[in-house]
Amino acid sequence: MGQENMTDTQLKETDVAKAIQDVVDPEIGRSLGRLEMVKETRIGADGTVHVEIELPTPAYPHRERITQAIEKALRDAKLPPSSGLEVAYSSKVRGKNAGGTLGLTIGNIIAVGSGKGGVGKSTIAACLAYGLNHFGARVGLMDADVYGPSIPHLLGVANARPAALEHKKPDGETFTRIEPVVAGGVKTISMGFFIDPNQAVVWRGPLLHRAIIQFLKDTDWGQLDYLVIDLPPGTGDVALTLSQSVGLAGAVVVCTPQQVALLDAVKAISMYRQVKIPILGMVENMSGDIFGRGGARRKAAELGVPFLGEVPIEADIRIKGDEGKTAALFADESPARPHLLHVCEQTAIQVAKQILETPSMPTLEIL
Ligand SMILES: Nc1ncnc2c1ncn2[C@@H]1O[C@H](COP(=O)(O)OP(=O)(O)OP(=O)(O)O)[C@@H](O)[C@H]1O
Ligand SMILES: [Mg+2]
Repeated sequence: MGQENMTDTQLKETDVAKAIQDVVDPEIGRSLGRLEMVKETRIGADGTVHVEIELPTPAYPHRERITQAIEKALRDAKLPPSSGLEVAYSSKVRGKNAGGTLGLTIGNIIAVGSGKGGVGKSTIAACLAYGLNHFGARVGLMDADVYGPSIPHLLGVANARPAALEHKKPDGETFTRIEPVVAGGVKTISMGFFIDPNQAVVWRGPLLHRAIIQFLKDTDWGQLDYLVIDLPPGTGDVALTLSQSVGLAGAVVVCTPQQVALLDAVKAISMYRQVKIPILGMVENMSGDIFGRGGARRKAAELGVPFLGEVPIEADIRIKGDEGKTAALFADESPARPHLLHVCEQTAIQVAKQILETPSMPTLEIL
């Protein structure tokens, strides 16, 4: 039979399906088959090829690139659908079994740290939480900076007091769970809810460790796709506690562009590596005229870690933070919005990659 007589119905569904499975995902760099992203391939009565792709995160950037890659693969395989290609997208966040021994139902735990104080860690942590939530993920934000908690203020819930609710196990034994404060769709917990803001917290290591574990374990997080943790600056105590008790997806390292700050970021990365926390990547915050620009991108390349994006230095970011309106940075007219969304997308992609790179961890299916 000549090529001109071929009808769409003769396109072999299996050949088409095979070609699509082999398409390399433009963001993650692995085949769609390996990533288990193809949910369905079907050739309609009119010859249209219908493909259903399940993205590993709702924060997947430029999904149209997958459509283009599929189109190209079908053309290259001489299987072009004459009546068109329709790709439908859905998403389901996959996760490491992040609960560790604590019994949490959290897909991915992302720690946000830095080597230096004041570089905008808490701001970026809050923005990651709001941004991932903006894309439709279920998100929590834990403030692990027990000495200088600033998350309640950034989220505009400084006066909230979480309720402690008593629950009963099937055997009648009771246990208490803290209800996280919900701010703009994000569940959050912080030492700031439990102490007078003017009071200094003086704690030794073991107590700090216990407080962190309690925040993780005794908070009623429910099912989350992502839990973002704002780490305190400086020492690795909290990072160590986390790496020993939960399966972290990894750490996002925030730094400012200037050389001195970058040196601290390098130390932070080395510290996370020592305690076996994967590095998701570096974010350059306060990028712009004052501190320069591009330093973190270069440093990330030098260190062989992903670069997650630049967030410009902008009065609006400080003002919204001061006013407790961090969520407003995602409003349509906000100049910071595209930069922040980009950082969220890149972080979510790195989290999705981490799952592949540690195949020994059982994946947690969150329903
Ligand atoms: N991109 C930015 N542009 C302008 N101001 C910013 C930016 N990022 C953060 N800030 C401001 O810088 C200050 C410090 O930010 P933040 O509290 O997030 O830093 P941090 O690293 O968490 O500090 P600490 O080490 O004390 O926990 C805040 O006033 C915040 O609003
Ligand atoms: Mg902070």
